[in-house]
Amino acid sequence: MDQLFQLRLKTISADQLPNGVRNRVIELCTHAFEEDYRPFIDSFDGAIHVLGYLENHLVTHALWVTRWLQVDDGRLLRTAYVEGVATQKELRQRGFAQAVMEELVRGVEDYELAALSPFDVTYYARLGWELWRGPLFIRHGEAVESSPADEEVMIYRLPKTPKLDLHAALSAEWRIGEPW
Ligand SMILES: CC(C)(COP(=O)(O)OP(=O)(O)OC[C@H]1O[C@@H](n2cnc3c(N)ncnc32)[C@H](O)[C@@H]1OP(=O)(O)O)[C@@H](O)C(=O)NCCC(=O)NCCS
Repeated sequence: MDQLFQLRLKTISADQLPNGVRNRVIELCTHAFEEDYRPFIDSFDGAIHVLGYLENHLVTHALWVTRWLQVDDGRLLRTAYVEGVATQKELRQRGFAQAVMEELVRGVEDYELAALSPFDVTYYARLGWELWRGPLFIRHGEAVESSPADEEVMIYRLPKTPKLDLHAALSAEWRIGEPW
């Protein structure tokens, strides 16, 4: 618990991120996801990072990028899409990722929606995220492609989120890398 109180959080846009810190984010995420995270970081356009430090050591992280989610054929919702949620292995189970996610939600309150693809639904459900129950699609130009049945997306309602039917169809624009 002591360490929880020492966690220092900082929100910073990718274009302000010093190279050394960027490399440390890549290192942290590469270890956590057990794959080279550099191509993912490189592909995220206009990312905003939430960094968690113990002393001067980056130990936990998440980022968001702007995406345009659409419910059925409604208007496009400006969505903060979360990626790269990771805590250094030896420092897990201390509430660090939770602290980062709470800070992130405060940082995106001007968006119309927040969303992510969860590693574990119950983890994010405890933090107030809701599983999307309807079918998922990726919009690619004129084409709309069905996402695999095992794909899961969770959303977080923000002050500007319109009324949502979680059983409706949900789509996102195509992007390089992971569709969701
Ligand atoms: C998921 C992760 C970020 C959690 O970091 P953390 O700082 O330990 O998170 P917190 O301390 O806030 O929460 C820990 C809780 O998550 C739970 N948890 C961790 N990994 C889990 C998993 N794979 N499945 C289910 N629950 C899990 C723990 O049991 C713990 O619950 P408890 O508080 O009841 O003991 C960290 O385990 C990690 O970096 N994992 C690898 C990368 C990853 O999968 N990221 C998520 C991408 S969506």
